Amino acid sequence: MKKIVSLIIICICQLSLFAQPKKINQDLSGLKNLTGIQLVGAGKMIDPYHYTIEKTALFSKASVSCAHPLASMVGAAMMQQGGNAFDAVIATQLTLAVVYPGAGNIGGGGFLVGHTPAGKNITIDYRETAPKKGYRDMYLDSAGKVIPNLSVLGHLASGVPGTIAGLFATLPYAKLPMKTLIQPAIDIAEFGFVISEREAAGLNATRESFIKNSTMSTAFVKEGKWKAGDTLVQKELAETLKRIRDFGQKGFYEGKTADLIVAEMQRGKGIVSKEDLKNYKAKARAALAFNYKDYSIIGMPPPSSGGIIVLQMMKMIEQKPLSAYGFQSTKAVQLMVEVERRAYADRAAHLGDPDFWKVPIKTLADNTYLKNRMADYDSTKATPSTAIKAGTIHESDETTHISVMDAAGNMVSVTTTLNGGYGSRTVVGGAGFLMNNEMDDFSVKPGVPNMYGAIGGEANAIQPNKRMLSSMTPTLVLKQGKPYIVCGTPGGTTIPTSVFQTLVNFLEFNMSAEDAVNKPKFHHQWLPDEVAVETGFPTKIISELQAMGYKITQRTAIGKTEAIRILPNGKLETAADKRGDDSVAGF
Ligand code: DON
Repeated sequence: MKKIVSLIIICICQLSLFAQPKKINQDLSGLKNLTGIQLVGAGKMIDPYHYTIEKTALFSKASVSCAHPLASMVGAAMMQQGGNAFDAVIATQLTLAVVYPGAGNIGGGGFLVGHTPAGKNITIDYRETAPKKGYRDMYLDSAGKVIPNLSVLGHLASGVPGTIAGLFATLPYAKLPMKTLIQPAIDIAEFGFVISEREAAGLNATRESFIKNSTMSTAFVKEGKWKAGDTLVQKELAETLKRIRDFGQKGFYEGKTADLIVAEMQRGKGIVSKEDLKNYKAKARAALAFNYKDYSIIGMPPPSSGGIIVLQMMKMIEQKPLSAYGFQSTKAVQLMVEVERRAYADRAAHLGDPDFWKVPIKTLADNTYLKNRMADYDSTKATPSTAIKAGTIHESDETTHISVMDAAGNMVSVTTTLNGGYGSRTVVGGAGFLMNNEMDDFSVKPGVPNMYGAIGGEANAIQPNKRMLSSMTPTLVLKQGKPYIVCGTPGGTTIPTSVFQTLVNFLEFNMSAEDAVNKPKFHHQWLPDEVAVETGFPTKIISELQAMGYKITQRTAIGKTEAIRILPNGKLETAADKRGDDSVAGF
């Protein structure tokens, strides 16, 4: 019988998998293959046709929190089979590439921050790069104006994908072979899984864009509308994943998959070439670690802006009695807004790919420099940002975060993305996966905002093979040198402020993981000069901020944070954000 193992495995945990059976509308003959194989010692099966969401739980040994229940369960299953947190994060990412096509990906990129029981910090940068044929003004017309959407939709929006190189760069820290880690993703792609209402809505809303920006038919488009309970089968993606299983990294960056990517690019006037794919390398970088009170916070250095911005914000509040001000007090919120404003102003001017731009990290992290940044802080009114063209904040953000802890004391935090929801909307013909639209994270023209309203200049200008600046902020916290918190979130430019506020919620306001993740958040990014507040943010604070001169805008959601914290009794308090289908698993 065909070996379909891993799907089958286990499930562990406090997952009430069979609670809400959903209607299945497609031929499920494949399902037969999914029964009858159980790993020794396994508990319940992971059933891609029946599963429910678990938002928060206490686990004793190991846990995963991510954007989809099936992916969390697969990650936890790998740890139950003898893998560690690195195994879990690889398997979870691969499964997300199947079950969460809006952001889980093999056609995108990401960042990993890890910490081992030996006390080693690990970061892996698998951010996309500009293709060799990319150049500074590639999204401008002959009059020097930005051509709308060229960096956002279709073939030219894609950078060279980094995810598969990133997973193979993670593998030396894992214990199980890639063949084991990738099999659940293959099985779920091949035999399908039942989609949620949210996924159905996402696929329906993107239907026309898939058709317009892809040159061949795709599993994401079907006749009629998707609805909750439908089964999404991705045969071509399964074949692509099998090539990765059988040929390793080369199964993606060379051979048939590379041929299919380049053929798709050529049909759509894209510029990612075989040479770009073959030359792509994930990079190990030195983690950005700093102390905050009794804690060590470990983050991602450039080309992500996340680690350094969080460092700046935490250091700027460190001397203030934030916990005495109180959670959701106007005083605390106003201080945090002003801190955010200053950190984001530095982001726009100073941050870019360190292999191409000298990022003044030492100065940006310097205590005296940060003290001076706050010299003009006034606790009674808004400090105006320099008034230049305001960007609009994009509403339908999709990136995805995975937090994992294991029994041995490994902690892993990964944020990965296609950039916008479903990336460039270009599905690689015959290979079944979406390409990213990460080129929009470059500054396509100095001072012109990208889809998240971020502006930049020379530091983040397009150059061949350069990595575009990111906001992704996978983060770990140690308490007196011991594993304490893993967290991170999607959300474009709101990512560092969400992580900042999650950390403040934990470290200053002593919240549970559930509250730290779910309490309404707010965001200031210097330009546009406004405070975005999330639905549910107290109206009293809004009025008081307005009276101090702040412009307030409303957002339905800020981030989708996944967090794990170790309680004094050793339990892993694990929370998945209420804002999506996010779910936890563990044992
Ligand atoms: O790297 C970045 O900063 C962006 N590409 C992240 C995009 C994102 O978070 C979208 N979603 N929520």
